[in-house]
Amino acid sequence: MKVSVSILKEYDNLKYAIEKVNQTSADFLHVDVMDGVFVSNKCFPLEKVTEAKDLSKKPLDVHLMVKDHELIKKYVSINPCYLTFHIEVIEDDALIKYVKSKGIKVGLAINPETSIDKLVPYLNDIDLVLFMSVEPGAGGQAFKSEVLEKVRKLKSIISSNVIISIDGGVNDKTSLLCKDAGCDMVVAGSFITNKDDYEDGIKQLR
Ligand code: DX5
Ligand code: ZN
Repeated sequence: MKVSVSILKEYDNLKYAIEKVNQTSADFLHVDVMDGVFVSNKCFPLEKVTEAKDLSKKPLDVHLMVKDHELIKKYVSINPCYLTFHIEVIEDDALIKYVKSKGIKVGLAINPETSIDKLVPYLNDIDLVLFMSVEPGAGGQAFKSEVLEKVRKLKSIISSNVIISIDGGVNDKTSLLCKDAGCDMVVAGSFITNKDDYEDGIKQLR
């Protein structure tokens, strides 16, 4: 199981938290961007993501909870390993093509209530699906286990080169359910950053 560490709750202690993640076996650093429109919170402006990239020794997994496509395009300049935006904000493959043309891997995130049918037309064009197992917008919420049914369904139709990741409420217990349902990667925030020993938390998720 790959582990991507979300530093959302450490917004004010970015340097401290990223330096701690650097010392672990984490596979990615997950950076949550919120626009105050698609979700009510607002965080991680471009400068702050640039700062995170400069501090991080881990590849970046950027999750855009953002509605405006022009704003999404601005985050391409970060050149992260994965740039993930929401299926709920697109109507065609133009943005996917744009991001891919810049040599960046594309992820599509899907909210708990959204049907996986919406993803189907894009499955051959993307690199990652990010299942939201909480309502997007805040860390520290409880895991919605009903989302795992969608994970199982998608796993049965998806090609093996698309990574299935899941985000929200992941802890030592829910990560076992994610693994069983077919997830390749978990995104975890508070479960790890609330610990003094980040590596201990990461080990429990693998
Ligand atoms: C929620 C964010 C998550 C969040 C996860 O909208 O996308 O990445 O940081 O935090 P935890 O693991 O605390 O649920
Ligand atoms: Zn996220």
